[in-house]
Amino acid sequence: MNKALRPAVIAGNWKMNNTRPQTRELLEALKPLVAGAGCQVVVCTPFTDLEAALALTAGTNLHVGAQNCHWAASGAFTGEISAPMLAELGVEYVVLGHSERRQYFGETDATVNRRLRAALDAGLRPILCVGETLDQREAGITGEVVAMQVKAALCGVTAEELGRMIVAYEPVWAIGTGRTATAGQAGEVCGLIRQVAAGLYGQAAADALPIQYGGSMNAKNAAELLAQPDVDGGLIGGASLKAADFAAIVEAASK
Ligand code: 13P
Repeated sequence: MNKALRPAVIAGNWKMNNTRPQTRELLEALKPLVAGAGCQVVVCTPFTDLEAALALTAGTNLHVGAQNCHWAASGAFTGEISAPMLAELGVEYVVLGHSERRQYFGETDATVNRRLRAALDAGLRPILCVGETLDQREAGITGEVVAMQVKAALCGVTAEELGRMIVAYEPVWAIGTGRTATAGQAGEVCGLIRQVAAGLYGQAAADALPIQYGGSMNAKNAAELLAQPDVDGGLIGGASLKAADFAAIVEAASK
């Protein structure tokens, strides 16, 4: 399948930013700027902003996602939010396995897999994040690390379920550092992720899988990164907090 046949998806990961008034301000600014987007546009907000974001984007081309979900549907898990809770709100997407969760909150490949299964069971569209640290890249094991993360996360996931997923390649050393992977580096690892998916599910399923790059993507470097044959979109942190910057990336993905 040709890259042009896969949907390009630009998703903003707001991380732990924006109160409800700030959410309103940002989304009201963003709506007209991305109304004519030729790609899918998603904003992944803090849990406390989800309901406001859903109300503000109703009837628009903006989709709403969360940044994590628990693996159980309900129960004694103080402080956690379940996938059915998100689905019931009307949330469509959920970021899983983000490197900040792996780094600061003890997330492992095994817990990412459990959360992914729960998200799929609840009908959500997971954005699975994978990526190597700087040490791993310098040790020459980027391919092994990323392949392992993808395979471990996808344990027990069917080809039909893969059709609801997005994978985001986010090299840890490029996140929030201003140090972007080169287009060649991003394209190479996204291509490898597609090969891993092809090995598990066949070429057709792999060709239909949107694979994003994330890590200091901005209005200036987006076009070059998105021109890579296996880069189908972006997962944007810092630049998603400014309407004009995020809209410029959406514009670059719409060409
Ligand atoms: P930055 O765009 O701020 O580097 O963050 C990327 C990211 O982690 C998106 O999930």
